[in-house]
Amino acid sequence: MPTVTIEGGQTFEMESGKKLVLGIEDAGIDILHRCGGNARCVTCKVHFLSGEPLEMSALEHDSLEEDGLLGQYRLSCQVRITGDCTIDPPELASVRGITPGDRPED
Ligand code: FES
Repeated sequence: MPTVTIEGGQTFEMESGKKLVLGIEDAGIDILHRCGGNARCVTCKVHFLSGEPLEMSALEHDSLEEDGLLGQYRLSCQVRITGDCTIDPPELASVRGITPGDRPED
């Protein structure tokens, strides 16, 4: 099982091939996913310090490009984790004072 390390925070294992946003949430971290995992809101964005997956869908690419985030962030609702990685702390609902949004589908 891949190990995900959150810089300055916790480490957890998640099922290989699972969406990163779901692994983060299932680890008890209240990551934002305001559009429900549809690559529209970019609130689920994360920065990879290591282990960034190479594959990127056109949907994720276009959403990141539109928001000027391409090359800096990935959308955790679009990324499936198959190896160990380290990411910057995600945006948290508790910090922003808003609800996380509907849980993205598997
Ligand atoms: S872009 Fe909205 S949840 Fe990922």
